[in-house]
Amino acid sequence: MTKFILWFKIIWAALSSRSTQAFYDKISTFYDDVYVEHEVHARTIQTMLNEIYAGDENETLILDLGCGTGMMTKMLSEKGFKVVGVDISLSSLYVHHDNYPTHELIQADANFLPIADNTFHSVVCLGVWRHFPDVEKVLSEVSRILTSDGTFIVGYFPPALAGSISLDQNWTGRLLIRFYEILTKTLGYIDRADFALEEETVEVAKKMFSSVSKVDTAFDRNILLAQYPLENKIYTKTQDSEVIQFYDILRCPSCVSTNKRIGQLKLIQNNWLICQEPECKHKYPIHKSIPLLLQEEGEKWATVSEENLQVSFEEYQ
Ligand SMILES: C[S@@+](CC[C@H](N)C(=O)[O-])C[C@H]1O[C@@H](n2cnc3c(N)ncnc32)[C@H](O)[C@@H]1O
Ligand SMILES: [Zn+2]
Repeated sequence: MTKFILWFKIIWAALSSRSTQAFYDKISTFYDDVYVEHEVHARTIQTMLNEIYAGDENETLILDLGCGTGMMTKMLSEKGFKVVGVDISLSSLYVHHDNYPTHELIQADANFLPIADNTFHSVVCLGVWRHFPDVEKVLSEVSRILTSDGTFIVGYFPPALAGSISLDQNWTGRLLIRFYEILTKTLGYIDRADFALEEETVEVAKKMFSSVSKVDTAFDRNILLAQYPLENKIYTKTQDSEVIQFYDILRCPSCVSTNKRIGQLKLIQNNWLICQEPECKHKYPIHKSIPLLLQEEGEKWATVSEENLQVSFEEYQ
């Protein structure tokens, strides 16, 4: 497919979707042909992780937040890390699963991570940060699921328009960003390309992590590295990371992020996860080995009894 046709399809998808999720669902089958330059930043992240966890790769559990179709998940898995991919776009996860069937994947919203506290040694996030209107909320979720010596690596900054068109920090750049802001808002997306996002993220990260630094990557971009979440958690490691089971780390997104309920999930019939909190009872289907752990999905099935749980997955394709 030529670049021209690809961009035509991207613009068409942008005009006909009304949310970030719908947009990525629409472009999932040709995403990998468009956002090729992400690979160089993924390589920077992989090198950073290899330095931090040298020799312990096999015991390092990493969450790839906004993993999309799997380029960085694959890169890190090949280096021996144990990686779990999370994304809100189910179609992107299907492409990911079809390309790499052994990857552990979860459909979830970064604002409500369906993961137990103190679980991951590292969270990595590439090309996704610009889609988060509430940076503080996502950072607090990230620090909640990290171990007390955990690392968070997020890039790249400054983000480019539509993830591809870089601008200079002069008045034309600012004007175009302003115009882009109005356009994306009108279309129903969140896509922050402003220069302030980087500093805002650093400021919020400093409140939540004891060490925050910037690392250069390609094309004059930065990656942020935040280490050691500050929240005073009493870390009781109940499971050895070597024997940790995928389903053991999952929690009900409606419960766990409130910090009031544990949101333990029970696996039934091998394709449903049911929240064990009596006030909740949200139920989440699993399709193509991917637990669909969005709050609205769980809510949809809350009143259906366990015996009557049936879902036609055609509507999810
Ligand atoms: C530009 S892509 C980056 C994908 C991949 N990290 C890469 O570098 O190729 C942005 C991804 O963020 C995901 N995303 C956007 N908002 C999200 C949210 N609230 N929670 C989880 N994923 C989200 C999109 O579905 C999409 O797959
Ligand atoms: Zn629940």
